[in-house]
Amino acid sequence: MDLKKKIQSKKAEIGIVGLGYVGLPLAMEFVRAGFMVHGIDLNQERVRCINQGVSHVLDVPSDVLRAAVDSGRFKSYPSYSIVSDTDCVIICVPTPLRHTKDPDMSHVVSATENIAKRLHKNMLVVLQSTTYPGTTNEVLIPEFKSDHLEIGRDLFVAFSPERVDPGNPVYNTKNTPKIVGGVTPRCTEMAQTLYEQALDTVIPVSSTGAAEMVKLLENTFRAVNIGLVNEIAIICEKLGVSVWEVIQAAATKPFGFMPFYPGPGLGGHCIPIDPLYLSWRLKALNYNARFIEMASDVNTHMPEYCVDRIHRLMNKHKKCVNGARILVLGVAYKKDISDVRESPALDIIRLLQVDGALVDYTDPYVGELDLEGKKMQSVAIDAQGVAKYDLVTVVTDHSSFDYPMIQASASLIFDTRNAYKMAAQNVYKL
Ligand SMILES: NC(=O)c1ccc[n+]([C@@H]2O[C@H](COP(=O)([O-])OP(=O)(O)OC[C@H]3O[C@@H](n4cnc5c(N)ncnc54)[C@H](O)[C@@H]3O)[C@@H](O)[C@H]2O)c1
Repeated sequence: MDLKKKIQSKKAEIGIVGLGYVGLPLAMEFVRAGFMVHGIDLNQERVRCINQGVSHVLDVPSDVLRAAVDSGRFKSYPSYSIVSDTDCVIICVPTPLRHTKDPDMSHVVSATENIAKRLHKNMLVVLQSTTYPGTTNEVLIPEFKSDHLEIGRDLFVAFSPERVDPGNPVYNTKNTPKIVGGVTPRCTEMAQTLYEQALDTVIPVSSTGAAEMVKLLENTFRAVNIGLVNEIAIICEKLGVSVWEVIQAAATKPFGFMPFYPGPGLGGHCIPIDPLYLSWRLKALNYNARFIEMASDVNTHMPEYCVDRIHRLMNKHKKCVNGARILVLGVAYKKDISDVRESPALDIIRLLQVDGALVDYTDPYVGELDLEGKKMQSVAIDAQGVAKYDLVTVVTDHSSFDYPMIQASASLIFDTRNAYKMAAQNVYKL
C-alpha cells in the first residue's frame, strides 16, 4: 500500500526514537490517534519503566501511559531492531552542548546510523531534535543515500521542530501548531500527512533548512529578549529604580512592546543551548552572530550577578556569606516542573558554596540534586526551619511555595523572580 494511504488509514506503524520530554508525549498523541507506536530508547531502565506504565515525564501522567501500554498499541525497546518493521520514524534524541559550547551531535548521529541500517521502501523519517540549519541535509541524507531508495520517491525525509513547553497548562503537543519541511515537496507532504492524523494544526514550509531555522528564530528571540531584560535589571539597580515596576508600566502600552522578565539566568534544554547551535553554524560561514553571543554572555553571568547581590545585601545587614546558612527556594529551571538541566540554581548553589555558605535547597519537584557527584537532598520547610537561615533566595517560583509563611519567618530574602508581589522590609528584589 502507498505510504500516504497507509498513514491516512492509521495502518502505518510509528517508531519514536528517544522517549524523553518530547518523545513520550508525542508517542501518546499517536497512540490516542489510533496508531501502533514503538518507542526506542537506549536507556534500558527508562524503557523498563515505560513498559510498566511508569512515566518520568510530568506532562504524561502514569495512568495515561499505562492505558496506552495496556491497549497493546505502545511498546518500547532498548534497541533499534524494531525500526525495520516501522513505516514512519521520528527522532527525538537530545542535542546538548559539549563543554566547549559546540553542538554535541553524537545522539543524532548514532540514531541516524542505526536507522540507516534499517531503511526500506515506503518509509518516512522525521528529525525533531533541535539542531543547526543544514543538519537534515548534511547529517541524515548522506547516511540514507542508497542505490535502491530514491529520496522523495521511495524514502521520505523531513525536519519538524519541537515546540513543546513542559508544564504549560494551555499549550501541549496536540494543540501547538507543528511546522514541517521536507527534503522534497513529496517528503513535506508525507510528514504533513503523518502529523495531521494526531495534531490539530500542521504548517508546511518549503525546505528542511527553513523548518530548522524556525525553531532557532523562536528560541533566539527569547534568549535575546531575556538577555536584554536581564541587562535592564542590572541597569535599573544602578539607577535605583525597580525593574519590575518599569516592566509592569511599559507593558500597559497596547502595541509595540512585549514584556519579558529578568531572572537568575537561563535553564532547560532549549533557550540556553539552541541559539548557540546557530552561532556555531554561522562561525563556519565566517559570520559572528553578535546578538546571540551578547545575550548568551549576559544570561550566563546572571547567577554570578545574583550571588554578588547576595553578598552586598548581607553586607548591608552586617552579615557575610562565608559561614552563612542560605536556603535556595526552587532549583528546577522553571515553575512547576522537575527539570534541572542547565538550571541557574545549580550555579548559584555552587558559587555560594565556593564563598563558604552552608547552602540548603527546597523544591517540591526535585527530591535530590547531583552537583558534579555531590548529592544534596531537598529540605522540608516550616516557619521555624526558615527562621534558621541568614538568607532565603527565590530562584524558581513554584506555585506551591507558602510565600506568606516564608516572608513572615525569614530574616532576609533575595527574590530573583518577583515571586512576592507585595513589598516587605525583608524582601529585596533582583
Ligand atoms: N524538553 C523540551 O522542553 C524541548 C522543547 C523543544 C525541543 N526540545 C528538543 O527535543 C530534543 C529532545 O529533548 P528532550 O528534552 O526530550 O530530551 P530528553 O533527554 O528528555 O530525552 C531524550 C531521550 O533520548 C534517549 N536517547 C539518547 N540518545 C539516544 C539514541 N542514540 N538512541 C535512542 N535514544 C536515545 C535518552 O535516553 C532520553 O530518554 C532535543 O533536541 C531538545 O533540544 C526539547
